[in-house]
Amino acid sequence: MPIATSPALPAGTFARLDQPVLDAGAVVLRPWASADVAAVVTAYSDPGIQQWHARTMSEAEAQAWIAHWPDRWAQESGAGWALEVDGQAAGQVSLRRIDLHEACVELSYWVLPFARGRGVAPAALTTVTEWAFDLGVHRAQLDHSTRNSASCRVATKAGYLAEGTAVQRGLHADGWHDMHLHARVKAAPTHER
Ligand SMILES: CC(C)(COP(=O)(O)OP(=O)(O)OC[C@H]1O[C@@H](n2cnc3c(N)ncnc32)[C@H](O)[C@@H]1OP(=O)(O)O)[C@@H](O)C(=O)NCCC(=O)NCCS
Repeated sequence: MPIATSPALPAGTFARLDQPVLDAGAVVLRPWASADVAAVVTAYSDPGIQQWHARTMSEAEAQAWIAHWPDRWAQESGAGWALEVDGQAAGQVSLRRIDLHEACVELSYWVLPFARGRGVAPAALTTVTEWAFDLGVHRAQLDHSTRNSASCRVATKAGYLAEGTAVQRGLHADGWHDMHLHARVKAAPTHER
């Protein structure tokens, strides 16, 4: 069936580039490396990360998870960065979905317990969002359980306005959660901090 709109972003918008290292001040966003396996296993053994990301991760799964990001970049379906703080992998931010046709991305993040409370996630989220806007992305969105107030603060501090609540949208280990949708739109002044 013919599509009545042209893609907002051409194929190759991401893949023609090497995945960049992004400087967010005290946090550096860099591609994942095989040396990060232990940090990823540690992250997914944290009860907070398990709770909100609804998964665990063995060493073999962490290796596969790290290895899948270059493929996602090449396919322009997603992108993942390690958040390095004081020379240590301390968290992640990812474009968990890239939609070139509608120039939209969806984001996800977590920070290891030792680095929480220092603004690492908002700094990383702001930096990657503005980098994506510079590439031509039009809208960036994320969602979190309405029970996850820390994640709501991250979204708000990074300029993502709350757009609404999707009732029983997120399946977690303890059942369905209502999910808050937040977004930033490149050209919308109301979405600025
Ligand atoms: C949510 C999360 C990413 C925040 O990252 P961060 O880099 O600590 O973000 P901030 O420093 O801006 O803190 C955000 C909020 O976390 C809470 N917080 C502060 N210090 C904290 C600490 N030491 N430990 C846990 N939470 C803390 C506060 O509510 C804070 O909001 P405030 O700045 O208005 O007080 C991180 O706590 C995390 O990874 N949690 C588990 C996984 C998760 O929730 N992922 C998001 C799923 S949608």
